[in-house]
Amino acid sequence: MTTRTYLMCRPEHFTVSYEINPWMNKHNPTDTALAVKQWESLRDTYLDLGHTIEYIDPIEGLPDMVYAANGATVVDGIVYGARFTYPERQPEGPAFLQWFADRGYEVHDAVERNEGEGDILTVGPRVLAGTGFRTSVTAHAEAARLWNREVVTLELVDPRFYHLDTAIIVLEGTDGKPVSTDNQRGTSPEGQIAYYPEAFSPAAQEVLAELYPDAVRASEADAVVLGLNGVSDGQHVVLNPRATRLMAQLTERGYDAIGVDTSELLLGGGGAKCCTLELRGR
Ligand code: ARG
Repeated sequence: MTTRTYLMCRPEHFTVSYEINPWMNKHNPTDTALAVKQWESLRDTYLDLGHTIEYIDPIEGLPDMVYAANGATVVDGIVYGARFTYPERQPEGPAFLQWFADRGYEVHDAVERNEGEGDILTVGPRVLAGTGFRTSVTAHAEAARLWNREVVTLELVDPRFYHLDTAIIVLEGTDGKPVSTDNQRGTSPEGQIAYYPEAFSPAAQEVLAELYPDAVRASEADAVVLGLNGVSDGQHVVLNPRATRLMAQLTERGYDAIGVDTSELLLGGGGAKCCTLELRGR
């Protein structure tokens, strides 16, 4: 395990005022103070694990900005901006890009439609990229050119799992470096994942089975509480404690599964990973 740096956005303006995924219901009341409290316990969990947190200021009128993972993707210190599908979230893209530019990152505004780490997940040397709902395959090619890395396209087919990070947890290799095989798990240098196969097209299921034959396969019960929307540093995996079977599967493999309740943020269709944008390699 190595320590990570994450970018987060305090949910001061969190609410559900529009519906752009099946989890959102604008007639259900939300509790912003509770969202902030749960977000703080997520942040404190990362701090206790020794990780570094950076913050982007929340903007009034952008309630989904708490899902910072969607704001961009950073690999090797190179920032690929987000270009959101729905107009309600479109102003978030430039706000995140500005944050990075102000801090001296090499930033690239996207031409193609993509929602950052919601659909673009780094696993060791390779990048897995989702499509089907929010991110276009042309964005996968754009990202591959930008980072000069292999980008593997995976088609999502179930609207409940509209972003790749709702169907896969990257267990090892989120920092984009070759994974140390120096553990009890016998992980390959190419990293490891947990995923819910049925969220993917048959072709994507084949690709995943070939790339990660020893992956943890999650049950539907764990997937529908967004148990796969978790954050791992290679040893500790932070996820929804309601994904009890997945927690047991991870423990069995030698990971430390840490449950953090983010139920209020689930009302917007996100969990721990959605709130966490990894800043890699600068
Ligand atoms: N309400 C947000 C949307 O539908 C939730 C985004 C969740 N983020 C994620 N990384 N999956 O866009």
